[in-house]
Amino acid sequence: MNKLELKLCILGNLGVGKTSIVNRYTKGVFSLSYKSTIGVNLVRKDINIEDFGDVGIQIWDLAGQQSFKIFHKKYLQGADGAFIVYDVTDTLSFKKIDEWIEIFKKSGGKSPIHLIGNKIDMRGSISVSENEGKSYAEEKKIGFTTTSAKTGDNIENAFLGLVRTILKKK
Ligand code: GTP
Ligand code: MG
Repeated sequence: MNKLELKLCILGNLGVGKTSIVNRYTKGVFSLSYKSTIGVNLVRKDINIEDFGDVGIQIWDLAGQQSFKIFHKKYLQGADGAFIVYDVTDTLSFKKIDEWIEIFKKSGGKSPIHLIGNKIDMRGSISVSENEGKSYAEEKKIGFTTTSAKTGDNIENAFLGLVRTILKKK
């Protein structure tokens, strides 16, 4: 049998750390310098899920910049699931989650969504509490993880969480 291949998309405002999360997860690296994504950044990784087996995942890391919105529909087509990321030090990025969910639902149908509150290493500057993120996710009935791409905290858990939810549905 051919190995299962999943398409995951990662969405959210400019600079919330989408590319950093993907780089941490797929390459184990982190950089403080910011290079805004142009269009889309595509990455692949093979993983093994306990009680399931090997799964290939394609990660479509979309640019947060408004000018790339015209590509969203095309990039999101056929997605098996999506991460929507906000920055815990940036309240606006949290307020925009509703819009990102709408964008994904319009193109991604009923595929599972997993919310990520990133940059939890920036302890002194946190403006969106873990509870706010958690209640929002509960209300929307979506998964939720707080992460740090810088320290690597919970990055693996977030991916496993979404992939398991997708596999349960399939
Ligand atoms: P766009 O591609 O422009 O939409 O941005 P992005 O969401 O991909 O953000 P990116 O990963 O490029 O990160 C933006 C900035 O935030 C960079 O300077 C990163 O180093 C920094 N950053 C990302 N994640 C973290 C984190 O967990 N902790 C800290 N302290 N900084 C982070
Ligand atoms: Mg990026």
